[in-house]
Amino acid sequence: DHLPMFLRELPKCEHHLHIEGTLSPELLFNLASKNSISLPTDDPAFASPATLKARYENFVSLDDFLHYYFIGFKVLTNASDFEALTYDYIQNAAGQNVKHAEIFFDPQAHTERGITYDTLIRGLKAAKTRATAAFPDMSIEFIPCLVRHLPVPTAHTMLEEIMSAGHFHDGTVIGFGMSSTEKDMHPSLFSSVYKAAQEAGIENLTAHYGEEGPASYMEAAIEQLSVVRVDHGRRVIEDPSLVARLAESKLMLTLCPVSNVRLRGVSKIEDLPIRELLDKGVRFSINSDDPAYFGADILGNYEAVQLAFDLTIPEWEGIALGSIEGSWCNEARKQELR
Ligand code: ADE
Ligand code: ZN
Repeated sequence: DHLPMFLRELPKCEHHLHIEGTLSPELLFNLASKNSISLPTDDPAFASPATLKARYENFVSLDDFLHYYFIGFKVLTNASDFEALTYDYIQNAAGQNVKHAEIFFDPQAHTERGITYDTLIRGLKAAKTRATAAFPDMSIEFIPCLVRHLPVPTAHTMLEEIMSAGHFHDGTVIGFGMSSTEKDMHPSLFSSVYKAAQEAGIENLTAHYGEEGPASYMEAAIEQLSVVRVDHGRRVIEDPSLVARLAESKLMLTLCPVSNVRLRGVSKIEDLPIRELLDKGVRFSINSDDPAYFGADILGNYEAVQLAFDLTIPEWEGIALGSIEGSWCNEARKQELR
Protein backbone atom coordinates (compact mmCIF):
# COMPACT_ATOMS: atom_id res chain seq x y z
CA ASP A 1 0.00 0.00 0.00
CA HIS A 2 1.26 3.47 -0.83
CA LEU A 3 -0.41 4.98 2.27
CA PRO A 4 -0.84 8.45 0.70
CA MET A 5 -3.17 9.92 3.34
CA PHE A 6 -1.28 8.34 6.20
CA LEU A 7 2.06 9.73 5.00
CA ARG A 8 0.65 13.20 4.44
CA GLU A 9 -0.83 13.31 7.93
CA LEU A 10 2.09 11.71 9.74
CA PRO A 11 3.68 14.43 11.93
CA LYS A 12 7.16 15.06 10.51
CA CYS A 13 10.44 16.60 11.57
CA GLU A 14 12.82 17.86 8.92
CA HIS A 15 16.50 18.02 9.87
CA HIS A 16 18.25 18.23 6.54
CA LEU A 17 17.08 21.09 4.37
CA HIS A 18 19.36 23.76 2.95
CA ILE A 19 17.40 26.97 2.63
CA GLU A 20 19.42 27.90 -0.45
CA GLY A 21 18.33 24.56 -1.93
CA THR A 22 14.72 25.75 -2.02
CA LEU A 23 15.50 28.36 -4.72
CA SER A 24 13.46 27.31 -7.76
CA PRO A 25 14.65 28.09 -11.32
CA GLU A 26 11.72 30.51 -11.69
CA LEU A 27 12.63 32.43 -8.55
CA LEU A 28 16.32 32.32 -9.51
CA PHE A 29 15.52 34.12 -12.78
CA ASN A 30 13.14 36.56 -11.07
CA LEU A 31 15.69 37.51 -8.42
CA ALA A 32 18.50 37.79 -10.99
CA SER A 33 16.37 40.31 -12.83
CA LYS A 34 15.20 42.17 -9.71
CA ASN A 35 18.72 42.37 -8.25
CA SER A 36 20.51 42.97 -11.60
CA ILE A 37 22.66 39.85 -11.29
CA SER A 38 23.98 38.45 -14.54
CA LEU A 39 23.74 34.70 -14.99
CA PRO A 40 26.42 32.65 -16.80
CA THR A 41 26.31 33.28 -20.55
CA ASP A 42 28.60 30.38 -21.45
CA ASP A 43 26.24 27.70 -20.13
CA PRO A 44 23.13 26.98 -22.23
CA ALA A 45 21.37 25.71 -19.10
CA PHE A 46 20.86 29.36 -18.12
CA ALA A 47 18.82 30.16 -21.22
CA SER A 48 15.54 29.96 -19.27
CA PRO A 49 13.99 28.50 -16.13
CA ALA A 50 12.87 25.50 -18.21
CA THR A 51 16.37 24.71 -19.53
CA LEU A 52 17.80 25.11 -16.04
CA LYS A 53 15.20 22.76 -14.63
CA ALA A 54 16.04 20.23 -17.35
CA ARG A 55 19.73 20.50 -16.44
CA TYR A 56 18.88 19.80 -12.80
CA GLU A 57 17.38 16.50 -13.92
CA ASN A 58 20.78 15.38 -15.17
CA PHE A 59 23.19 15.95 -12.30
CA VAL A 60 26.02 13.42 -12.42
CA SER A 61 27.54 13.94 -8.97
CA LEU A 62 27.48 16.02 -5.79
CA ASP A 63 30.05 18.40 -7.26
CA ASP A 64 28.07 18.83 -10.48
CA PHE A 65 25.05 19.85 -8.35
CA LEU A 66 27.13 22.12 -6.10
CA HIS A 67 28.33 24.07 -9.14
CA TYR A 68 24.71 25.10 -9.87
CA TYR A 69 23.76 25.44 -6.21
CA PHE A 70 26.45 28.03 -5.56
CA ILE A 71 25.60 29.96 -8.74
CA GLY A 72 22.05 30.18 -7.35
CA PHE A 73 23.45 31.87 -4.24
CA LYS A 74 24.48 34.89 -6.28
CA VAL A 75 20.92 36.07 -6.89
CA LEU A 76 20.16 36.20 -3.14
CA THR A 77 20.98 39.77 -2.23
CA ASN A 78 18.65 41.39 0.28
CA ALA A 79 17.32 40.26 3.64
CA SER A 80 13.89 40.15 1.99
CA ASP A 81 15.16 37.55 -0.51
CA PHE A 82 16.18 35.24 2.34
CA GLU A 83 12.96 35.99 4.15
CA ALA A 84 10.79 35.05 1.15
CA LEU A 85 12.72 31.83 0.52
CA THR A 86 12.47 30.78 4.16
CA TYR A 87 8.83 31.71 4.59
CA ASP A 88 7.85 29.84 1.44
CA TYR A 89 9.69 26.74 2.60
CA ILE A 90 7.99 26.83 6.01
CA GLN A 91 4.57 27.38 4.50
CA ASN A 92 4.98 24.39 2.20
CA ALA A 93 6.38 22.25 5.02
CA ALA A 94 3.48 23.19 7.29
CA GLY A 95 1.13 21.94 4.58
CA GLN A 96 2.85 18.55 4.74
CA ASN A 97 2.48 18.33 8.49
CA VAL A 98 6.09 19.16 9.30
CA LYS A 99 5.94 20.03 13.01
CA HIS A 100 9.60 20.77 13.58
CA ALA A 101 12.12 22.05 11.03
CA GLU A 102 15.84 22.58 11.48
CA ILE A 103 16.98 24.67 8.54
CA PHE A 104 20.58 24.71 7.29
CA PHE A 105 22.21 27.79 5.80
CA ASP A 106 25.74 28.39 4.49
CA PRO A 107 26.94 31.77 5.88
CA GLN A 108 30.50 31.59 4.49
CA ALA A 109 29.28 31.19 0.93
CA HIS A 110 27.29 34.42 1.30
CA THR A 111 29.84 36.53 3.15
CA GLU A 112 32.57 35.60 0.66
CA ARG A 113 30.50 37.30 -2.06
CA GLY A 114 29.79 40.39 0.01
CA ILE A 115 26.44 39.59 1.61
CA THR A 116 26.81 40.21 5.33
CA TYR A 117 25.95 37.68 7.99
CA ASP A 118 23.61 40.32 9.42
CA THR A 119 21.63 40.57 6.15
CA LEU A 120 21.27 36.83 5.99
CA ILE A 121 20.20 36.37 9.59
CA ARG A 122 17.74 39.29 9.46
CA GLY A 123 15.97 37.57 6.57
CA LEU A 124 15.85 34.21 8.33
CA LYS A 125 14.62 35.72 11.59
CA ALA A 126 11.92 37.79 9.89
CA ALA A 127 10.62 34.66 8.18
CA LYS A 128 10.59 32.75 11.46
CA THR A 129 8.69 35.53 13.23
CA ARG A 130 6.07 35.64 10.50
CA ALA A 131 5.84 31.86 10.21
CA THR A 132 5.54 31.33 13.94
CA ALA A 133 2.48 33.58 13.94
CA ALA A 134 0.96 31.81 10.93
CA PHE A 135 1.85 28.23 11.99
CA PRO A 136 1.92 28.32 15.79
CA ASP A 137 2.16 24.55 16.25
CA MET A 138 5.38 24.31 14.25
CA SER A 139 8.87 24.85 15.68
CA ILE A 140 11.54 26.34 13.40
CA GLU A 141 15.26 26.41 14.06
CA PHE A 142 18.40 27.36 12.11
CA ILE A 143 21.78 25.63 11.79
CA PRO A 144 24.77 27.31 10.11
CA CYS A 145 27.00 25.05 8.01
CA LEU A 146 30.68 25.39 7.41
CA VAL A 147 31.28 24.89 3.67
CA ARG A 148 34.20 22.57 3.05
CA HIS A 149 35.39 24.04 -0.25
CA LEU A 150 36.35 27.39 1.32
CA PRO A 151 39.53 27.91 3.37
CA VAL A 152 39.32 26.72 6.99
CA PRO A 153 40.23 30.17 8.44
CA THR A 154 37.02 31.56 6.90
CA ALA A 155 35.06 28.97 8.86
CA HIS A 156 36.68 30.20 12.06
CA THR A 157 35.75 33.77 11.12
CA MET A 158 32.15 32.72 10.58
CA LEU A 159 32.01 30.93 13.91
CA GLU A 160 33.45 33.96 15.69
CA GLU A 161 30.90 36.24 14.03
CA ILE A 162 28.00 34.02 15.09
CA MET A 163 29.36 33.79 18.63
CA SER A 164 30.03 37.48 19.01
CA ALA A 165 26.47 38.17 17.87
CA GLY A 166 25.41 35.92 20.75
CA HIS A 167 23.47 33.76 18.33
CA PHE A 168 24.31 30.39 19.81
CA HIS A 169 23.38 31.50 23.27
CA ASP A 170 20.16 33.30 22.40
CA GLY A 171 18.84 30.39 20.31
CA THR A 172 18.96 32.19 16.94
CA VAL A 173 20.94 29.16 15.80
CA ILE A 174 20.80 25.82 17.59
CA GLY A 175 23.81 23.90 16.34
CA PHE A 176 26.65 23.74 13.87
CA GLY A 177 27.04 21.69 10.70
CA MET A 178 29.22 21.18 7.64
CA SER A 179 28.29 20.77 4.00
CA SER A 180 29.61 21.07 0.43
CA THR A 181 32.00 18.75 -1.39
CA GLU A 182 33.00 15.54 0.41
CA LYS A 183 35.68 13.85 -1.69
CA ASP A 184 39.11 14.21 -0.05
CA MET A 185 37.58 16.28 2.75
CA HIS A 186 38.64 14.15 5.69
CA PRO A 187 37.14 15.31 9.00
CA SER A 188 40.60 15.89 10.47
CA LEU A 189 40.89 18.97 8.22
CA PHE A 190 38.12 20.63 10.24
CA SER A 191 38.90 19.51 13.76
CA SER A 192 40.07 22.98 14.84
CA VAL A 193 36.71 24.50 13.87
CA TYR A 194 34.70 21.83 15.68
CA LYS A 195 36.94 22.18 18.70
CA ALA A 196 36.27 25.92 18.73
CA ALA A 197 32.53 25.27 18.43
CA GLN A 198 32.67 22.88 21.38
CA GLU A 199 34.67 25.36 23.42
CA ALA A 200 31.96 27.91 22.67
CA GLY A 201 29.50 25.53 24.30
CA ILE A 202 27.87 24.04 21.22
CA GLU A 203 26.92 20.41 21.69
CA ASN A 204 24.57 20.07 18.72
CA LEU A 205 27.24 19.22 16.17
CA THR A 206 26.61 17.52 12.84
CA ALA A 207 28.34 17.12 9.48
CA HIS A 208 27.57 15.84 6.00
CA TYR A 209 29.41 12.54 5.61
CA GLY A 210 28.80 9.18 4.01
CA GLU A 211 26.99 10.81 1.07
CA GLU A 212 29.75 10.22 -1.48
CA GLY A 213 32.57 9.55 0.95
CA PRO A 214 33.30 6.29 2.79
CA ALA A 215 32.01 5.07 6.15
CA SER A 216 35.49 5.73 7.55
CA TYR A 217 34.85 9.48 7.16
CA MET A 218 31.67 9.11 9.21
CA GLU A 219 33.54 7.29 11.93
CA ALA A 220 36.29 9.94 11.92
CA ALA A 221 33.66 12.69 12.18
CA ILE A 222 32.17 11.00 15.24
CA GLU A 223 35.57 10.50 16.85
CA GLN A 224 37.43 13.65 15.83
CA LEU A 225 34.65 16.23 15.48
CA SER A 226 32.34 14.92 18.22
CA VAL A 227 29.32 15.06 15.93
CA VAL A 228 26.14 13.67 17.50
CA ARG A 229 24.36 13.38 14.16
CA VAL A 230 25.51 12.62 10.59
CA ASP A 231 23.85 14.17 7.54
CA HIS A 232 23.25 11.54 4.85
CA GLY A 233 25.38 8.73 6.26
CA ARG A 234 24.01 6.24 3.76
CA ARG A 235 27.42 4.59 3.33
CA VAL A 236 27.46 3.47 6.97
CA ILE A 237 26.16 0.18 5.61
CA GLU A 238 29.64 -0.63 4.30
CA ASP A 239 30.90 -0.97 7.88
CA PRO A 240 28.87 -3.41 10.04
CA SER A 241 30.71 -2.43 13.21
CA LEU A 242 29.81 1.23 12.67
CA VAL A 243 26.19 0.20 12.05
CA ALA A 244 26.23 -1.57 15.43
CA ARG A 245 27.80 1.45 17.06
CA LEU A 246 25.12 3.79 15.68
CA ALA A 247 22.35 1.44 16.76
CA GLU A 248 23.81 1.43 20.26
CA SER A 249 24.39 5.19 20.55
CA LYS A 250 21.14 6.23 18.77
CA LEU A 251 23.11 8.75 16.74
CA MET A 252 20.69 9.91 14.04
CA LEU A 253 21.35 9.86 10.30
CA THR A 254 19.46 12.49 8.30
CA LEU A 255 18.83 10.54 5.10
CA CYS A 256 17.88 12.27 1.85
CA PRO A 257 16.71 9.48 -0.45
CA VAL A 258 15.73 11.41 -3.57
CA SER A 259 18.88 13.54 -3.32
CA ASN A 260 21.04 10.39 -3.31
CA VAL A 261 19.39 9.14 -6.50
CA ARG A 262 19.56 12.52 -8.24
CA LEU A 263 23.27 12.91 -7.43
CA ARG A 264 23.92 9.31 -8.51
CA GLY A 265 25.10 8.01 -5.17
CA VAL A 266 22.65 5.16 -5.79
CA SER A 267 20.82 4.31 -8.98
CA LYS A 268 17.45 3.85 -7.28
CA ILE A 269 15.79 4.35 -3.88
CA GLU A 270 15.65 0.56 -3.43
CA ASP A 271 19.45 0.57 -3.22
CA LEU A 272 19.45 2.64 -0.04
CA PRO A 273 19.95 0.68 3.20
CA ILE A 274 16.57 1.65 4.69
CA ARG A 275 15.52 -1.93 5.43
CA GLU A 276 18.86 -2.78 7.08
CA LEU A 277 18.88 0.40 9.18
CA LEU A 278 15.35 -0.33 10.41
CA ASP A 279 16.18 -3.94 11.22
CA LYS A 280 19.40 -3.02 13.03
CA GLY A 281 17.75 -0.20 15.01
CA VAL A 282 19.74 2.71 13.55
CA ARG A 283 17.86 5.98 14.07
CA PHE A 284 17.26 8.03 10.93
CA SER A 285 15.04 10.77 9.59
CA ILE A 286 13.93 11.30 5.99
CA ASN A 287 14.54 14.70 4.45
CA SER A 288 14.52 16.69 1.22
CA ASP A 289 18.04 18.28 1.24
CA ASP A 290 17.58 20.68 -1.73
CA PRO A 291 13.99 20.24 -2.93
CA ALA A 292 14.13 22.83 -5.72
CA TYR A 293 17.08 21.03 -7.28
CA PHE A 294 15.99 17.43 -6.73
CA GLY A 295 12.28 17.72 -7.44
CA ALA A 296 10.93 16.28 -4.18
CA ASP A 297 9.96 17.90 -0.92
CA ILE A 298 9.79 16.01 2.37
CA LEU A 299 6.50 14.28 1.56
CA GLY A 300 7.88 13.32 -1.85
CA ASN A 301 10.81 11.67 -0.08
CA TYR A 302 8.51 9.79 2.32
CA GLU A 303 6.43 8.63 -0.65
CA ALA A 304 9.49 7.54 -2.63
CA VAL A 305 10.64 5.45 0.34
CA GLN A 306 7.20 3.91 0.70
CA LEU A 307 7.03 3.05 -2.99
CA ALA A 308 10.43 1.37 -2.80
CA PHE A 309 10.18 -0.40 0.57
CA ASP A 310 6.46 -0.88 1.28
CA LEU A 311 6.91 -0.19 4.99
CA THR A 312 4.20 -0.92 7.54
CA ILE A 313 2.35 1.73 9.53
CA PRO A 314 4.18 0.72 12.75
CA GLU A 315 7.49 1.06 10.91
CA TRP A 316 6.56 4.58 9.80
CA GLU A 317 5.43 5.43 13.31
CA GLY A 318 8.83 4.26 14.52
CA ILE A 319 10.60 6.47 11.97
CA ALA A 320 8.46 9.46 13.00
CA LEU A 321 9.15 8.87 16.68
CA GLY A 322 12.90 8.43 16.08
CA SER A 323 13.00 11.71 14.21
CA ILE A 324 11.35 13.43 17.18
CA GLU A 325 13.82 11.88 19.62
CA GLY A 326 16.73 12.92 17.39
CA SER A 327 15.53 16.51 17.07
CA TRP A 328 17.41 19.37 18.67
CA CYS A 329 14.57 20.65 20.81
CA ASN A 330 14.04 20.47 24.53
CA GLU A 331 12.22 17.69 26.35
CA ALA A 332 9.04 19.75 26.75
CA ARG A 333 8.83 20.29 22.99
CA LYS A 334 9.58 16.62 22.31
CA GLN A 335 6.73 15.69 24.60
CA GLU A 336 4.37 17.88 22.56
CA LEU A 337 5.59 16.29 19.34
CA ARG A 338 5.30 12.66 20.47
N1 ADE B 1 24.87 21.51 0.24
C1 ADE B 1 23.60 21.48 -0.13
N2 ADE B 1 23.20 20.21 -0.37
C2 ADE B 1 24.27 19.42 -0.11
C3 ADE B 1 24.50 18.03 -0.14
N3 ADE B 1 23.56 17.15 -0.50
N4 ADE B 1 25.73 17.57 0.17
C4 ADE B 1 26.70 18.42 0.51
N5 ADE B 1 26.53 19.73 0.57
C5 ADE B 1 25.32 20.24 0.26
ZN1 ZN C 1 22.66 18.44 2.51
